Amino acid sequence: MSQNNDNSVLFGNGDELPSNASDNPHINQLIDGVGRRQVLAAGAALGTLAFLGSVMPGAAVAAEPAAKGLEKLHFRPRSKLPFTAIATNRLDSISVPTGYRATPFIPWGTPITGNYPAYLSDGSNSAQDQAEQLGMHHDGMHFFPIDAQRGGKKSDHGLLVLNHEYIDAPLLHPNGPTLVAGKRSSAEEVRKEINAHGVSVVEVRRGLNGEWAVLPSARNRRITGATPMQISGPARGHALLKTRYSPKGTATRGTLNNCSHGFTPWGTYLTCEENWAGYFASRDTDLPRELSRYGLRSSSRYGWDHLKGDEFERFDATRTTTTASADYRNEPNHFGWIVEIDPFAPESVPVKRTALGRFAHEGLVFAPVKSGRPVVCYSGDDSQNEYIYKYVSRDKYRPGRSNGRLLDEGTLYVARFDASGKGEWLALDIYDKKFQQACKAAGVSFADQGEVLINTRLAADVVGATKMDRPEWGAVNPDNGEVYFTLTNNSARTSVDAANPRPANAFGHIIRWRELCKDYAGRQFAWSLFMLAGPEADSIGPNGKPLTADNRLASPDGLWFDEEGRLWIQTDMSGSQLSSGPFGNNQMLVAEPRTGELKRFLVGPVGAEVTGITATPDFRTLFVNIQHPGEGSTATNLLSTWPDGPGQRPRSATVIITREDGRRLL
Ligand code: FEO
Ligand code: CA
Ligand code: CA
Ligand code: CA
Repeated sequence: MSQNNDNSVLFGNGDELPSNASDNPHINQLIDGVGRRQVLAAGAALGTLAFLGSVMPGAAVAAEPAAKGLEKLHFRPRSKLPFTAIATNRLDSISVPTGYRATPFIPWGTPITGNYPAYLSDGSNSAQDQAEQLGMHHDGMHFFPIDAQRGGKKSDHGLLVLNHEYIDAPLLHPNGPTLVAGKRSSAEEVRKEINAHGVSVVEVRRGLNGEWAVLPSARNRRITGATPMQISGPARGHALLKTRYSPKGTATRGTLNNCSHGFTPWGTYLTCEENWAGYFASRDTDLPRELSRYGLRSSSRYGWDHLKGDEFERFDATRTTTTASADYRNEPNHFGWIVEIDPFAPESVPVKRTALGRFAHEGLVFAPVKSGRPVVCYSGDDSQNEYIYKYVSRDKYRPGRSNGRLLDEGTLYVARFDASGKGEWLALDIYDKKFQQACKAAGVSFADQGEVLINTRLAADVVGATKMDRPEWGAVNPDNGEVYFTLTNNSARTSVDAANPRPANAFGHIIRWRELCKDYAGRQFAWSLFMLAGPEADSIGPNGKPLTADNRLASPDGLWFDEEGRLWIQTDMSGSQLSSGPFGNNQMLVAEPRTGELKRFLVGPVGAEVTGITATPDFRTLFVNIQHPGEGSTATNLLSTWPDGPGQRPRSATVIITREDGRRLL
């Protein structure tokens, strides 16, 4: 979703404004003299990469040797990117290389449950219809083979599970949202908006002709912004989670602004609550830290809090009674979590896993699991100058026996990237000595671990985590276990550091690290920059050279490794970066980290973000999401008409990518 919108304007669709007012040093203040000179040399970028390249073999300046075994051969290894790069363009369509096919699938409004109400192209579907149709603005997505929970890898039948980040109210209703004296007045409209959020579970099957279809299955499910959910982990039952709906602080309703996602080693889906703060309003003058540090404001993005009735009043966090269990002052504390959903159990109650922390979660990516070892996963807080986190479970992973309870007891860490090229995971654990000392030094106290987790951002401030340039998706390289993260951009960066080397970072970059001693659960890592995005004149590609017409990009966001170790990179440019300049529409590229190759594979339609990527195990089908085509459109001013064509409202949709010859994609 776009950057820099003003939340005070109703129906804006932007990310949250920065809310990190901590005086954590940018780590440039920690760089020793030699390091600083190198970082700042030559306009920062090249110097930084050279500097980091000396720390970590295989950093951007020096491509790694070819895959094991291949170096013995006397010819160059087969290119793992055997396609011609797509040129940038601003077409209102999907462009893929010759020999590939891109087919729109399950757009917003596709019926999947209940009465299977048909999509009405004038926006007149009811709130109940919307609860039985695909939600708006597809984002993080995973294909679960139908036999996934038995360890199977069926490729022609599975559950496609995707979340719906936000809504374009002007397109959701016949003539946009109704306002009376500047306030929302239609409960039906707001219910439809709430139902257009959440998650869709869609059972899909590939036919003999290779075409995918939705099955009318009892497994199909819509989870919305109103679906009952449980709260688990250390914050369950906390005083700061008590509300009128859940006086015990153990239950809640709905998930909102889900961005990227995750999937667990035991076959469940995770949806990640990102820019949720703008859904709430509080008119209290003194906001408690668990609201102020997350950027809660006196007006909400969509104005749901204007309406009477418990289902809407919960979006108003103003204190109206003397006790938390009689109003909704704590309702915003029910958001900012990672939610686990069992897609194979349609009656299951989704669970908010509080041990994973509360922030603007982009997604969650797991390190490879090993029997008898803890599970380890990584998550970025996508807001300007926020942090990257890691979770290590207390209990050990047992194939076939482990479940979501592994995500309830464990240690949450936050990353500090040092200028030396090393880094440290800092525990946010009330029983950890260093954490206690840091709290004392900062004059900050927490009542218990539940409160640490509800105030994750503050706890991370206290231990001196590194402020990052908006961490988005993470991905783990199956070849060597390196963890990659996109840092999409950061117009608010005023001073650079080694891990975020450009001031007012307009184009973004990709960072990666390797846990020391091959111990994912450990506390130390070595990091380097994989690439600096941007135009030819201000970029460094994975091969250590400037980007070219074949691969220039900006604002990297989606990130995914296929099983053969190719890195797929998706962009989320907005504003002038999208409408003018050298990048064209948002795009998807493929990198080969072993050789430093990088090529543009797909260009999306006008105004859309390219996001959400998953494949069938046989790698003959790639599913990609196109989000908010024609962003900023209204019913009378359609900036894109993808995918339905002239005169039709644009719709977010999945795109099925296959090869025309039906073989593996690459
Ligand atoms: Fe919703 Fe961080 O992208
Ligand atoms: Ca998005
Ligand atoms: Ca994103
Ligand atoms: Ca983004």
